[in-house]
Amino acid sequence: MKIISSISDLRDQLRGQNRIAFVPTMGNLHEGHMSLMRLAKRHGDPVVASIFVNRLQFGPNEDFEKYPRTMERDIAMLEKEGVYVLFAPTEKDLYPEPQEFRMSPPTDLGDILEGEFRPGFFKGVSTVVTKLFNCTQPRVAVFGKKDYQQLMIIRRMVEQFAMPIDIIPADTIRDADGLAMSSRNGYLSPEQRAEAPTLYAELNKIKAALNQGEMSLEHLAQLEQDCKRVLLERGWQPDYISIRKQHNLLPPAQDALEAQAPLVVLAAAKLGATRLIDNLEI
Ligand code: PAJ
Repeated sequence: MKIISSISDLRDQLRGQNRIAFVPTMGNLHEGHMSLMRLAKRHGDPVVASIFVNRLQFGPNEDFEKYPRTMERDIAMLEKEGVYVLFAPTEKDLYPEPQEFRMSPPTDLGDILEGEFRPGFFKGVSTVVTKLFNCTQPRVAVFGKKDYQQLMIIRRMVEQFAMPIDIIPADTIRDADGLAMSSRNGYLSPEQRAEAPTLYAELNKIKAALNQGEMSLEHLAQLEQDCKRVLLERGWQPDYISIRKQHNLLPPAQDALEAQAPLVVLAAAKLGATRLIDNLEI
């Protein structure tokens, strides 16, 4: 595997390739990331991965400085998976001067859910992803459903800017007890780690209740409330538990329920200082 940090070296290395499959990451890789590499392999060749902890998407009180950086281990994992190039720029490589131009997602998609609790987050994400796309010029790029809203925003961005890239969604990979794999799981104490699967268990309860019967706006609101209450009682601090339409992440109106529009329940909650997110399609 070639490990490349400068944009010009990356361009030299990839010149003439027109079927590149790209997987952007922030490193501290786990099986979730690895499943994306495998999916990428099925959709293109060569596979290019990136590792870059993107300051633009971290809020002032978030974990940019302490975000886990495990480059040697990550490199070994990518080697084993047959990744052809790892693009691992420094901040100076990717942002040689302040990144003054920014991508700006529409507010109805970028400022809801995650965007409400992490102002500027999706601006930072879509800006770095655009830049990484320009550096790598892939044919396809793989994103995980774990970050459901991120996947949707990248899809819309690519559509609206006619970027010649297919976005491939990847299913969420979980530990045996249901907890969605995440670099942030490493922040959890043993007690918190034992409690963490509750989030996904509660999402499954909502899904089961909705599949069983009554589909009214009151029932949806009740399920969201019940879930919040359970989490609060167990010591979590929920940011949101919200049942939304899959296609635009807006709350369903009665007519959407009647038309059986596909729904997804999205959640974010803190356990101690660690903020976890998850979602489940219904
Ligand atoms: P990161 O959190 O490292 O995630 C990189 C990719 O892995 C994302 O597409 C994410 O959805 C996916 N992923 C994470 N956990 C997963 C899991 N348990 N199962 C399946 N896929 C999973 O997301 C980012 O980095 C950044 O925002 C980035 C897109 C790289 C821009 O900086």
